[in-house]
Amino acid sequence: MEKAQLKLNGKTYDFPVVVGTENEHAIDISRLRRDTGYITLDEGFHNTGCESSVTFIDGEKGILRYRGYDVAELAEKSSFVETAFLLVYGRLPTVTERKQFSVLLTENSLLHEDMNHYFTGLPPHAHPMAILSTMVSSFAIFYPTYFVDDKDPKTFDTMVAILLSKVRTIAAFSYKKSIGEPFVYPRHDLRFCGNFLNMMFASPVKPYEADSEAEALLNMLLILHADHEQNCSTSTVRLVGSSRVNLYSSVCAGINALWGPLHGGANQSVIEMLESIHASELTIKDVLDRAKSKSHPFRLFGFGHRVYKNFDPRAVIIKKACLKFLESRKTSDPLLDIALELEEAALKDEYFIERKLYPNVDFYSGIIYRALGIPTNMFTVLFAMGRVPGWIAQWKEMHDAVPIKIGRPRQVYMGAPLRFYKPIEEREE
Ligand code: ACO
Repeated sequence: MEKAQLKLNGKTYDFPVVVGTENEHAIDISRLRRDTGYITLDEGFHNTGCESSVTFIDGEKGILRYRGYDVAELAEKSSFVETAFLLVYGRLPTVTERKQFSVLLTENSLLHEDMNHYFTGLPPHAHPMAILSTMVSSFAIFYPTYFVDDKDPKTFDTMVAILLSKVRTIAAFSYKKSIGEPFVYPRHDLRFCGNFLNMMFASPVKPYEADSEAEALLNMLLILHADHEQNCSTSTVRLVGSSRVNLYSSVCAGINALWGPLHGGANQSVIEMLESIHASELTIKDVLDRAKSKSHPFRLFGFGHRVYKNFDPRAVIIKKACLKFLESRKTSDPLLDIALELEEAALKDEYFIERKLYPNVDFYSGIIYRALGIPTNMFTVLFAMGRVPGWIAQWKEMHDAVPIKIGRPRQVYMGAPLRFYKPIEEREE
């Protein structure tokens, strides 16, 4: 077996090298502190990882696979529900499994009626991500199946269905709350994405007309968001879950991590950025200059990625679908024109070329959501809806590991040395 050697204070230490299925290499330093007394510092976890069998990314080649399947193939041929099954259970379902899974999702689509009352007390302008986080947190109150045994397959299946199905219902209800319309309940006769669009856009005075193109597009977007290995929200789910807290609470932590504008919240920030460019006198050059300036906190939202250093395969698929959808609807969006100009200019700019900054998953997704009639503050909720299967799959992988290790980093203390307490009257003003 290949080994890495570390020379420290005249001694040599060996550490095993781990090689992944796709020839990725890692040095296993789990014995480092025990053997040497040293720890590693790795701000932002640029070099820290775990072993996982869920998703593979090659950031240089722009490859993304769930359980071995290329995401482009899944986006073209699969449905979100089937992809969710694949991620969570590790294989594509059979016809029977697929039916049983759909039935379980359907049976778990309603919210507990008492949960619906939560919405009454919420201010109308509450951000849907805050609502989603609050509601998912309360799953542990309303659906405490984890008290039984979360290693029991039936209990786990129910928790999976509760999360996947009810997150979708909450998403639609939070929109209805924000526009002051009555909730439209989930229906047993509709498929996953059609059901969501119906809950969003039907009203007691106007039924929603099924739109197969919109449904297919939403399926595709949810598939593309379904997992992304050890990103910020997923690592959060794993870290929180490593304390052995229940699945609902772990996923809730992931939802909160996703909300940030450097992560899933970027899809909202992209549209707000494009809108502000549209409403101002700013030129594309001004915007890029701001993004490049070290004295300005502004960043080009929807650009750059920790892992992708060539292109983000999700962004390529989404951009193509976005152009096709707007064309098929014979509609235009001035924000799309700005986005296209920005992308073209950024990709020719030395700053972006040098740093390998490309459009990421969030750059064009918002333009599709707008075309579907979904308001900007709902975009990150849709991201969360898509990411639920990935969070569950990664939580389960971590949870099933033997022995389960609590996530607990160390530190190098840089604060004050030992000091002695002074009574308040002796302290200098
Ligand atoms: N605009 C301007 N400059 C950027 C951008 C950007 N969008 N992204 C990175 N850079 C610059 C950084 O300032 C840094 O420059 P420097 O080397 O001169 O200091 C360099 O590129 C490297 O960037 P880091 O921040 O070190 O890269 P990191 O991997 O830590 O961050 C991130 C990745 C957070 C995605 C970053 O590219 C970013 O902030 N992008 C904008 C927000 C965004 O779109 N987030 C969504 C990401 S996808 C997702 O999470 C779903």
